[in-house]
Order: sequence, then C-alpha cells, then structure tokens
Amino acid sequence: MMVSTLIALSSLFALAFASPVARRMKVLESRALPAAGFVRTGPAAANTTLDLRIALVQSNTDTLIEALYNVSTPGHPSYGQHLSKEEVEQLVAPSTESITAVNAWLQQAGVNATTMTPAGDWLSISVPVSKANSLFDADFAVYTHSETGQQAVRTMEYSVPHALQGHVDFVHPTVSFPNPSSAKSFVTAPRPLGRSANLTARDTPCTPLSVTPNCVQTLYNIPSTKATQSSNQLGVSGFLNEFVNEIDLNTFLGKFRPDLGDTGFAVASLDGGSDSEQEGQAGLEASLDIQYTVGVASGVPVTFISVGEKNQDGLSGFLDIVNFLLNEPNPPQVLSTSYGNNEPLMPLSLVKNLCNAYAQLGARGTSILFASGDGGVSGEGQQNCTSFVPTFPSGCPFLTSVGATALTSPSTETGAPFSSGGFSGIFAVPSYQASVVQSYVSGLPSDIQSEFTSGMRGYPDVAAIGTNVEIILNGKNLTVLGTSCSTPIFASVVALINDELAAAGMSPLGFLNPFLYANPGAFNDITTGSNPGCGTNGFPAASGWDPVTGLGTPNYPALRAAAGL
Ligand SMILES: *[C@@H]1O[C@H](CO)[C@@H](O)[C@H](O)[C@H]1NC(C)=O
Ligand SMILES: *[C@@H]1O[C@H](CO)[C@@H](O)[C@H](O)[C@H]1NC(C)=O
Ligand SMILES: *[C@@H]1O[C@H](CO)[C@@H](O)[C@H](O)[C@H]1NC(C)=O
Ligand SMILES: *[C@@H]1O[C@H](CO)[C@@H](O)[C@H](O)[C@H]1NC(C)=O
Ligand SMILES: *[C@@H]1O[C@H](CO)[C@@H](O)[C@H](O)[C@H]1NC(C)=O
Ligand SMILES: *[C@@H]1O[C@H](CO)[C@@H](O)[C@H](O)[C@H]1NC(C)=O
Repeated sequence: MMVSTLIALSSLFALAFASPVARRMKVLESRALPAAGFVRTGPAAANTTLDLRIALVQSNTDTLIEALYNVSTPGHPSYGQHLSKEEVEQLVAPSTESITAVNAWLQQAGVNATTMTPAGDWLSISVPVSKANSLFDADFAVYTHSETGQQAVRTMEYSVPHALQGHVDFVHPTVSFPNPSSAKSFVTAPRPLGRSANLTARDTPCTPLSVTPNCVQTLYNIPSTKATQSSNQLGVSGFLNEFVNEIDLNTFLGKFRPDLGDTGFAVASLDGGSDSEQEGQAGLEASLDIQYTVGVASGVPVTFISVGEKNQDGLSGFLDIVNFLLNEPNPPQVLSTSYGNNEPLMPLSLVKNLCNAYAQLGARGTSILFASGDGGVSGEGQQNCTSFVPTFPSGCPFLTSVGATALTSPSTETGAPFSSGGFSGIFAVPSYQASVVQSYVSGLPSDIQSEFTSGMRGYPDVAAIGTNVEIILNGKNLTVLGTSCSTPIFASVVALINDELAAAGMSPLGFLNPFLYANPGAFNDITTGSNPGCGTNGFPAASGWDPVTGLGTPNYPALRAAAGL
C-alpha cells in the first residue's frame, strides 16, 4: 500500500520542520568498524538503488508480552484464549503520531514509502544511494568480504531528524553486515554421518546407530494413529533454496510409515520461493525436516514454507517469513525451524524486533520451535571462542529451543555433545524458568560461571533424539545428526497433541514454555552428557533443566495428560 496520500501534516510537526531545528539530526545506530572480514572497497555508486526498511516504534509491546503470558500460562483465566490478528496488530501498530511524522518527513524528501506489515510497523523504501546518504546523513559504501568476495552496501552510521526520535526504531540494512558465507552459516546444518547400508523399518526400539520414525514413536510413546483435524497445521520453514523431493518422501514413507497411506505436504512460498522436484535438487535440511514431520506427526497437514532468494532482509528471509505468517488469517499452530545463527553476529535492534515478532505469533496461538545449534557452547562453529557463544534466535524467551540427545542403548538417552545450549547475552531470564536456571547455575563450578552472563535466558528448553537419524536424500540412504533432527520431531509431538486438543474442542498449546516448565514431569529427564566447546567441557547435563537438553525429551502420554486430555 502506498501511503504517500494518507498524510495530513500535524501542525506542530510541520512547524518543527519549517525551522532550522528540523535539520538537527540524531544518530540512531553506529559502529566503529565493519564486521570481521569485511573491508571498505570503495564508495557506492550514487545511482545504486537501496531497498531499505524502516522499523517504526511499536506502541504497546509491554501489553503484547503481558497478553502473551496471560494466554500461555496454564491456570490463568485467559489461558488458551489466543489473540486475533487484529488484536495483535492493534498492540504493535505505531502511534498515529509516529506514522504521520515519519511519512511527512519521507514525503517532504520525495520518497514513497510502502507499508510492509498489516500493523504498519515496517515501511520499505527504494532509494538511490545519493538519496539515502542525504536522508540519513549516512555514508553508504561498498564493503567486500576478503575471503568470499561477498559485497554489501552498508554505512558505519546513520541518523534521522531529531524530531523523529521515539518514532523511528531503526533502519535496516544499514550497520548490520550479512553473514559472510550466508549460504552456509545461517543454517544449523545437519551433518551427514555416512551412508546407511541397511535401512530397515522397525517397530522395535531405535539403536544407537539407527533412528527412524517408527522407533522414535516407540522411544517417546508417540501414537501412530492418524490425526483427524484438518484445521490443525504444522509449518516447516525452508530457506536457502533447499527443496524437498516427493519421490524421496514417498520412498521414506513407504519404508517406515506404509500405514500412513497416501500422504504428502503442501508448499507455501514467499520471496520467490519454490519447491523444485528436479532430480538431484533435494536439500539435506529440507528433506530431513519434511521426512520427520510428515513421518512422525501422522496425518497432521504439513506445509513447507519456502522462502526464496528475493528476500531483501539481509537475513536469508528470517524477517520476511515471520511477517508473512503474521499476515496469514490462520497461521500454522506449530512452526518448526532448523536454522539459526550466532547471537553476537546479529544486530541488537533486529534481534529485539524479531523476538517481538515471535511473541506476536505466539500470542496468536502458534508454537514456535527452533533448533538450538550444533556447536555445543561454541555456537555455530566458533572454534576459537574465548567465551561461550549463544545462538539466535534460541535466546529469545518467546519461543521454544530444541537441543539434541544421542542413544547409548535402545532406550537410554544422553545429551549430544554438539547440542548448543547456554545463556543469551541479550535477553534476561524469563520468570517461567527463573528458578530452575538459578538452581542449575548455582551448582556450577566458578570457572564455568565466568564464561557466560548470569541472570539471562537459558536454552534449550527441551530436547529430542538427534544422532544417526535415517533419511533419504536424492534416492540415497543417509544418516544425519544435529538439533535439526530434534526440532521437527519435537514439533511433531506438539502438533499431535494439538490435533487431540482440537478434536476435544480445546485451544492449541500456543507459546509452549510456561506450560512446559509447569510440567517438568512430562519429560524424560536427561542427566548425562555435556556440550563441549571453546576449549572447555561445556555444560554438564544434570537432573532437572540443563543447558544441554533443557527439561528433557518428550514423554507423549505425560504431555498429553498435562495438556488436560
Ligand atoms: C549509474 O551511473 C553510471 C555512471 O554514471 C552509469 O554507467 C550506469 O549505467 C548507471 N546505472 C544505472 C542503474 O543507472
Ligand atoms: C493479564 O491478566 C491480568 C489478570 O491476571 C489482567 O489484569 C491483565 O489486564 C491482563 N493483561 C492483558 C494484556 O491481557
Ligand atoms: C511516488 O508514487 C507516485 C504514485 O504512485 C508516483 O506518481 C511518483 O512518481 C512516485 N515518486 C517517486 C519519487 O518515486
Ligand atoms: C547392517 O547389517 C549388518 C548385518 O546385519 C550389521 O552387522 C551392521 O551392524 C548393520 N549396520 C548398521 C549401520 O546398522
Ligand atoms: C537403502 O536401503 C534400502 C533398504 O531399506 C536398500 O534396499 C538400498 O539398497 C539402500 N540403498 C543404498 C544406496 O544403500
Ligand atoms: C582458529 O584456530 C585454528 C587452529 O586452532 C587456526 O588455524 C585458525 O586460524 C584460528 N582462526 C581464527 C579466526 O583465529
């Protein structure tokens, strides 16, 4: 929607702009140096077009968070009474004053803004570098990553008129740099362990060397009967041109879940995303995520949400997919995402904005699950870390972070050494986990306590098996590992409980954490294992919550009972 015609200048504002005071600029964000590996290689051509997004200050974030906790906390009178799309939008919509002021400023500069979200909290503009430089008092230049050659037009600092302070939250992308090898490191990539020579269906227990949908059902007592509610949806995020091949899925289901009969998945797409069925084009992550949702969440409608390369958010589409889902009248009740990044690499303004967007989706009744990462306490591959590296978005308190386990015997799990976990450097510990985090931390030796910030959000929240998981990729049998395996499995458990809730006329679980932490007995507590990294042994798993396996792995009948079924 073009907003250029909507604007009536508020007289006070017009006055402010007519005076020289209006030219006073206020620095919104700055950084001293480009991100590691990037060097300035020249000015940006004045006529290069920049697609910039302007985040306006949201009006009622505190009320949104309060409402989220009200509807997500068992026992609260509003428990399960999720907010409507309009109610959420009303809470995050910027004030009329902000909208008026920002649009008046842009209009005066001859810039057309497009409103990107129904709540109106994001505007987008397309402007030449010369215009962006004058508008934001910036110095957009070309920065090149020395190893990969990747280029980005960024500025070390930008400003908005003083009068817009408190109206403009931040502008993106400006001072944040893309992940140098974004095609790889934005992924919590499942690692292939090797060819599996003898892929066999089994109802019998999993073995330490082979995990399949059937044995996961046995391990966690997950029912194999088909779900019945078509309104109950499970969404799977797909990024980086990862596709799912239906022939692979059919082979997989034919092997492990012949009882499901004819079943598949739907595809939704944004930013030009698609799902290529061409031979050899299937991606490891996407195949794993679909095989362990369709194959475990028996009969729950699964949608693969493919985010294409036309994303302009500098985040592989992370910002776009959440805004896409917020714009849906009926977003999926469960969202499984096996992608992430290291928290310190993410710009603070964006981290907060995205976390708040997850709160909005949670308030609507969506359970949001993210993989915790595969580098133990070193995050995603920070081999030389001198202190522990938290991952994003697991540190956001409004979603559920999933860690991984491995099997030591067919029914004994231990924390997987690669399972990322620890404490956010940004978000304070939320009340739902404050006491268990406190009691875990107080039992740690002091040398470990110096590796992280105390009083912060601990993750993961839960775990599921994530080692030697069998998949079929482009016709080949593979076993893979990663919290990428654990996340779709846990998401499937939640989706199946939601199916039973819907059948009973009850609300879906929505934002899970207050419910999960109120029911620690609904988990198989994992008390062994650790997640080494940064030259340390990492955190030890322990009785109760720990930052390797969270509360533990799912015990389906117990979770079901806790949900009131
Ligand atoms: C930008 O300007 C340069 C030099 O003036 C010119 O060669 C180029 O074609 C222009 N590019 C666009 C997209 O207008
Ligand atoms: C949350 O619940 C409390 C009652 O426990 C109520 O006073 C408050 O208004 C509610 N807040 C929102 C935003 O719904
Ligand atoms: C802004 O949009 C209007 C209407 O679509 C168009 O006429 C005008 O040329 C645009 N201005 C700029 C600077 O792009
Ligand atoms: C495959 O089967 C052979 C023979 O039955 C067995 O020795 C071997 O351990 C199996 N391999 C795996 C990975 O399960
Ligand atoms: C994959 O496993 C199936 C048995 O389930 C077997 O028939 C097939 O040969 C295996 N393929 C490869 C490439 O190992
Ligand atoms: C990290 O350590 C390895 C060897 O331990 C070394 O080869 C590498 O250069 C180091 N990387 C950085 C960024 O310091």
